Amino acid sequence: MPRKPKILVTSAGGKTGLPTALALLEQGYPVRAFLRRRDARAERLKEAGAEIFIGDQFSMRDMRRAMEGATRAYHCAPTAPNGLHFGAVFAAAAHEARLEHVVSLSQWLSQPEHPSQFTREVWLNDALLEMMGEMSVTTVNVGWFADNYFMVLEPAAQLGLLPMPLGNGDEKKNAPPSNEDIGAVAAGALMDPGAHGGKVYRPTGPALVSPNEIAETLGRVLGRKVRYQDISETMFLKALRAVPPPNYSDTMLTQLRLYVEEYRRGAFAVNAPTDVVQAVTGRPAESFETIARREVARRPEAVRTVGNRVRALANFAKIALARTPDVAAIERREVHVLIEDAQYCGENPEWRESHGPGGPKLLTAAA
Ligand SMILES: NC(=O)c1ccc[n+]([C@@H]2O[C@H](COP(=O)([O-])OP(=O)(O)OC[C@H]3O[C@@H](n4cnc5c(N)ncnc54)[C@H](OP(=O)(O)O)[C@@H]3O)[C@@H](O)[C@H]2O)c1
Repeated sequence: MPRKPKILVTSAGGKTGLPTALALLEQGYPVRAFLRRRDARAERLKEAGAEIFIGDQFSMRDMRRAMEGATRAYHCAPTAPNGLHFGAVFAAAAHEARLEHVVSLSQWLSQPEHPSQFTREVWLNDALLEMMGEMSVTTVNVGWFADNYFMVLEPAAQLGLLPMPLGNGDEKKNAPPSNEDIGAVAAGALMDPGAHGGKVYRPTGPALVSPNEIAETLGRVLGRKVRYQDISETMFLKALRAVPPPNYSDTMLTQLRLYVEEYRRGAFAVNAPTDVVQAVTGRPAESFETIARREVARRPEAVRTVGNRVRALANFAKIALARTPDVAAIERREVHVLIEDAQYCGENPEWRESHGPGGPKLLTAAA
């Protein structure tokens, strides 16, 4: 039998890279896992059979070495400043290595006029990869991950509160996908370029759910009543700043506030849910309850103890006392690329068309 092609998985310690690599290994593919440090995640991947590569995704030298002998790759730019640099290094190295197929993690919101610099960079990365006609590309446009709700697992578990700035608790909906399903879709596309090359996929969870339903489900899983509390953007920014983990950087704050604005505007509900997970993997997408049960079981802050409750109350006090981050000052200091007349997705005709009933198309097909 011919040997299976070697697949490079970038951001292999991340939310989607880890399940992508594990799903490929399970199917017997040789995987090179690109991480930036040797830690428990690297150990887990090694035990599952991956070849571990430690390096910096900004470094052309490292990316060239990481691609030696690989013919396919999962491209996942970390959620970090200079996303365009990640994309350009990956594209240049992929061109040199003559990769045959790439699966690229993009965004549901991806469009070139977006107020978010990260999102415009993601769109430019999509365009760059598509322009490289020598390899096939599958673009995976994911919306608001289920994982994001677990930012507030501690107050949900300890205080019965789900404080997020998502707007009206009955109206603002999302069909949240699990990290595992995103990884399974990426792995499915990597294993079969013939079927999935040239496609744009938008994997979602199985149903649209409101913030009140998210709170109710979490409550059921945690065995207590949990109430969704719509909070202001200011409070959200203070919380991101004040409470670790993961201690969001200044740059992330400036972008996350734009993503919650898209949530409130209903962008993640447009033409959702999709049947992508079922179509690519052959099994249904995981429900939010399934995802929440797995997450609650593995997170220490979900266990109700006196110590955890005291910590949750102390974190609330920290948030109240924290200074409000000055977004405009951060943008000036970090020299963000701001564009005039930026458009949220609902205001952008190109995005509306690509998210219409005809489904997503390659950017070059729309041109
Ligand atoms: N979260 C969402 O709701 C959402 C929605 C739509 C799209 N996305 C897209 O998802 C992508 C991120 O995917 P993800 O959540 O799977 O990734 P992630 O969890 O942010 O993982 C990124 C990984 O890359 C590593 N890393 C960071 N800088 C590096 C560098 N210079 N060199 C090598 N490794 C580096 C990080 O290492 P450490 O862990 O060691 O720091 C981390 O393990 C972004 O491009 C974003 O646009 C996210």
